[in-house]
Amino acid sequence: MQLHGTATINQNGHLEIGGVDTVELAEKYGTPLYIYDIALIRKRARAFKKTFEELGVKAQVAYASKAFSTVAMLQIADKEGLSLDVVSGGELYTAIKAEFPSEKIHFHGNNKSEAELIMALDNKIGCIVVDNFHELYMLHELCKKREQKINILIRVTPGIEAHTHDYILTGQEDSKFGFDLMNGQAESALTFAIESDYLNILGLHCHIGSQIFETTGFILAAKKILEKLAEWQTLHGYQPTVLNLGGGFGIRYTEEDAPLPPESYVAEIIDEVKKASERLDLPMPEIWIEPGRSLVGDAGTTLYSIGSTKDVPNIRKYVAVDGGMTDNLRPALYDAKYEAILANQATATPEEVVSIAGKCCESGDMLIWDLPLPRVEVNDILAVFCTGAYGYSMSNNYNRIPRPAVVFVEDGHDQLVVQRETYDDLLRFDLPFIEKTHI
Ligand code: LLP
Repeated sequence: MQLHGTATINQNGHLEIGGVDTVELAEKYGTPLYIYDIALIRKRARAFKKTFEELGVKAQVAYASKAFSTVAMLQIADKEGLSLDVVSGGELYTAIKAEFPSEKIHFHGNNKSEAELIMALDNKIGCIVVDNFHELYMLHELCKKREQKINILIRVTPGIEAHTHDYILTGQEDSKFGFDLMNGQAESALTFAIESDYLNILGLHCHIGSQIFETTGFILAAKKILEKLAEWQTLHGYQPTVLNLGGGFGIRYTEEDAPLPPESYVAEIIDEVKKASERLDLPMPEIWIEPGRSLVGDAGTTLYSIGSTKDVPNIRKYVAVDGGMTDNLRPALYDAKYEAILANQATATPEEVVSIAGKCCESGDMLIWDLPLPRVEVNDILAVFCTGAYGYSMSNNYNRIPRPAVVFVEDGHDQLVVQRETYDDLLRFDLPFIEKTHI
């Protein structure tokens, strides 16, 4: 199995990440435990940025914080010179608490509330990615009342179907996101914003989907948008500064996945945008992208302790771990596949094929089907790879299971960045029932 980033196997036969023995991390912090390889996050961020720099294209690489949003992570994103994509008041609040430079924050979402827009305006963020007419009019009115100008991107759906899981498809016409590019809605939004004294249209945005392995979809989307922009240049004299092509660059979860290196996606997309801009006589726009998964996905590993096993003769052996769909919803939600090894016996040869069950009272709580492993014993440590994106961020307290802690590792150091939830944390919003007669 190919390990990711700084992961290696040390002389004790243990999985080591960031120069730290993961078995020792499990002992020190308990399990389940999310571990992040910070050097790998930095490497990915630098690869994206460098490609733009080398090709001499003005760009912003905005980390899609929905993939994994915590104060410490956003501080790293800032140190690496990334911008930030937030999609809710909560993600924006996290960014503010992390002291992320507000002018580099982009605010997404298909149903931003007035309170969220006010929060964005109060904090003078870099731009709002306007998704629909309700938001467009509300934002204009708010800015007018406050006599404040704001930069916007208009989110469009270019009618592209990316090859990925249905639930994470967003660029097709029948989508809850954005203004339709072809049926005139995007143009109506544009003309409204042109006439507004408060909305400064930086350009257009689209996001065609997630976990995409080819550049075709991005290129088709970019071409369609640029062609529309060329029409608008003639009709409305409008010229964009920015073309934001969203995120969605795929990663390798298992051997079956064959993603391109981040820089290849970027280089091919830039090339096409350059060509199309020249052909259509448009000024070359700045290109913004919003990678989430490809920045943090393979940098994350989850450690679990093995508990019970159930052998169903001639059918299957279930091996249960102390987490599951509460810390990683993706297998249950998307049938997502993962690879794993025993962190404490990382060199041992697999002897049996087992299926890894979570601890929730739900048959669908299975993390990995048919995983070859050495013979497992109680308290062995299972390391599941590539859990860095949409693991912690989609974690939940089903069955009142507390969320795990998060630890960053780098250059032989480990650092706790999110504490493990306690049972009291689970009860912090519960209020006792009071009989009506006593009120
Ligand atoms: N930009 C926009 C507007 C997005 O909607 C998304 C993801 C991204 C950027 C980042 O996409 P990424 O580079 O991470 O693929 N929970 C699902 C993924 C949902 C993605 C939603 N939007 C999963 O676990 O696979």
